[in-house]
Amino acid sequence: MKEAYEKLGAFYLGKEYDLASRTLKDDVVLYDSKDLTTHAVIIGMTGSGKTGLGIGLLEESLIDNIPVIAIDPKGDLTNLLLTFPELKGEDFQPWVNAQDAVTKGLTVNQYAKQQAQLWQKGLSQWGQNPERIARLRAAAEFAVYTPGSSAGLPVSVLRSFSPPPPAIRDDGDLFRERIQTTVTSLLALLDIEADPITSREHILLANILEHAWSLGRSLDLAGMIRAIQAPPFQRIGVMDLDLFYPQKERFSLAMRLNNLLAAPGFEAWLEGAPLDIGHMLYTSEGKPRAAIFTISHLSDPERMFFVATLLNEILGWMRTQPGTSSLRAILYMDEIYGYFPPVSNPPSKTPLLTLLKQARAYGLGVVLATQNPVDLDYKGLSNTGTWFIGRLQTERDKERVLAGLEGAAAGTGFDRGRMEEVLAALGKRVFLLHNVHENAPAIFQTRWVMSYLRGPLTREQIKELTADKKSSLTDAGKTASVTPVSVPGTPFKFAPLEAGPPVSPPGIDTFFLAASGAGQGLVYYPAVVGCMNIHYASVQYDIDVSESVALAATLEDGPMVLDWDHAEAFDPAHLEMTALPGAEYAELPQAAGKVSAYSKWNKDLLRWMRQNRPLTLTRSKRFKMTSSLEESEGEFRSRLAQAIREKRDLAVEKIRKKYDSRFTTLKGQLLRAQQAIDREQEQAKSRKTQTAISFGSAILGAFLGRKTVSTTTASRVGTAMRSASRIQKEKMDVVRAQERTRAIQGQMEELEARLQEDISELEFSFDPASEKLDEVRIKLKSSDITVQIFGLAWLPFRKNAQGQLSADWESKKSSR
Ligand SMILES: Nc1ncnc2c1ncn2[C@@H]1O[C@H](COP(=O)(O)OP(=O)(O)OP(=O)(O)O)[C@@H](O)[C@H]1O
Ligand SMILES: [Mg+2]
Repeated sequence: MKEAYEKLGAFYLGKEYDLASRTLKDDVVLYDSKDLTTHAVIIGMTGSGKTGLGIGLLEESLIDNIPVIAIDPKGDLTNLLLTFPELKGEDFQPWVNAQDAVTKGLTVNQYAKQQAQLWQKGLSQWGQNPERIARLRAAAEFAVYTPGSSAGLPVSVLRSFSPPPPAIRDDGDLFRERIQTTVTSLLALLDIEADPITSREHILLANILEHAWSLGRSLDLAGMIRAIQAPPFQRIGVMDLDLFYPQKERFSLAMRLNNLLAAPGFEAWLEGAPLDIGHMLYTSEGKPRAAIFTISHLSDPERMFFVATLLNEILGWMRTQPGTSSLRAILYMDEIYGYFPPVSNPPSKTPLLTLLKQARAYGLGVVLATQNPVDLDYKGLSNTGTWFIGRLQTERDKERVLAGLEGAAAGTGFDRGRMEEVLAALGKRVFLLHNVHENAPAIFQTRWVMSYLRGPLTREQIKELTADKKSSLTDAGKTASVTPVSVPGTPFKFAPLEAGPPVSPPGIDTFFLAASGAGQGLVYYPAVVGCMNIHYASVQYDIDVSESVALAATLEDGPMVLDWDHAEAFDPAHLEMTALPGAEYAELPQAAGKVSAYSKWNKDLLRWMRQNRPLTLTRSKRFKMTSSLEESEGEFRSRLAQAIREKRDLAVEKIRKKYDSRFTTLKGQLLRAQQAIDREQEQAKSRKTQTAISFGSAILGAFLGRKTVSTTTASRVGTAMRSASRIQKEKMDVVRAQERTRAIQGQMEELEARLQEDISELEFSFDPASEKLDEVRIKLKSSDITVQIFGLAWLPFRKNAQGQLSADWESKKSSR
């Protein structure tokens, strides 16, 4: 049986807590994952349980197949990898803190056993069985990245400064912000604190980056050093470059950057997977990932540099995603101190503010934790929909939080005095949950986490945790760039230099594929090219796409003169009408001298295309969705997961809405029925209406608005009913009215049961990695192919000193 807390699209965070009696209630506190798209902050003093709450939230998210990027300044989040479904002492043993064992007078073995038991007990008290741990482990791929170090998975952040995607480049403000934060964080790494408006260093680097990025080029550090010495422009604003920043002084800036590059251990910043957010969030199979970036080993400027870079990349990725109303991914930062201050403006602040303002539309939920509310930028907070407030240390902190809450709750009847009492009474792992999407705040204790909260791991432990993932992941991150050189099969005779290209048969168009460099040392080989526009259409799968294809097949001197099986795709934009002077030519095979051969080859090409170029897409029968042309299977799977989440969230909301109006009607009827009784019982009027309302709101709370699913609601309803009926029994003349009330109450109970049933019947169980998908093939028909160019083309090959040939047109090839 499913546990009561496993509800569609809801995160199990804990249970309601009664502050007055200091006891845990049975009511489960569920949080609609959708609500997280308006972001959350977790505030509480050290030891109040922030990280425990954060880890619990991330566990829920991953179980629901929502990927996570977590920034881990303290090293605690690595614990997400410490999950042991069997809860055995041996499993815990390598990870327990040996010092703690000594302090307790236990052997490491005994201590590990004790910890395993502690976790087993904690989890079962919170209704979580080992099977849930296994589910968490299986739901996602977990990875610990250690930028600037080789202990965990490396990330290459400084290999190059790549231009942001067009979505950012085309937005003037975002592009400028991106350049500024990149430069500020790079200068911080050099220990130069520079003002973007007045500092020469900043202005120069910003101009260099803007120049490269506007051309769509990336710059590596070496390129940056060269550009500082010899910038690709002569003026800065209206001023001459050398007056603005004399060459000699530029040289010393270049030297500083060079010294950074030459520093021991710096290679770690250049190795590993690129910071590609799409790949950080999903495996190539479409399985969600938990990418944990641990930065506790870094110096302050290095941390700032990394965090700002990562946030910028996330911002760039986000802007390329389609809009959504459901949660797509979570960005969690475990300690925000120093990255989001109210007054100063470190490079991390601008992208973070932009994220808080814009991420909602893209379904990216930002969760920030801090010990100290004074560390948070107030403007940023006003964009935050959820506040988790734990125990606070000082009066000043409480004041600050109260002011913020009052602002966030503007107009909703904020009771400051009551709130002050609440804040003062919060204890360990007890939080006040204020969610703008809910009617009322809740006070709850966080559930026990599945991950073993061991605290920061040692370098060696991180190494061990990531060892098996290292080889596969870093390989996947690297791009294969070596393509085999293709040389025509048969050694042709070279035509003498002066002869020019051999004569083409009359009426056959002749082209030359552009070569790089000069004509000297170049040999042109003959090929037949066909450039086509092809159109794939399927009503059944709702497909209607066109694409251009250009193929070149070299002519061979043998029985098989032309074989489209060996054709290569190329970019027809590089076809030219003239050859480079000074090149040599292979001979044209005899067969290619006849005009009739070309119409046969043209027909062959059409047949070949029909047989060999079907459009192969991936399709989910169950959800009636088909992948798009450019989409890999993994990308399709993650898109599918998001689409299903949207559908599910909408479906749940629709059901709630549907019942909402029926319930309101019944509630009105109940009130009227109650009033009818009251008319008969003048003297007890006020008391009874009270009873009716409390009964009404108990039911209302159970399935609308508040998402805490109450197991005590039933008993509350019972009490309300009993007290109501006791009073009513006193008078016989109200029996009929009382029966009517009962009937309505019965209808309400039935309605609630039906609502729960409707929700539980929604079938949205989905595992992105194992969901069954089918291959769909859409074949080309003759009428789908329009040949635009067909003729003879000379392809350039280059001879090296040893006389070996290699294709000079590698860069003109295309992938399709
Ligand atoms: N949900 C939980 N399940 C089990 N244990 C927990 C949970 N939350 C907190 N703890 C225990 O309480 C300790 C302190 O909690 P936690 O680390 O979350 O505090 P914190 O507010 O993040 O403190 P700091 O500001 O110092 O990082 C943890 O090390 C763990 O032992
Ligand atoms: Mg913490």
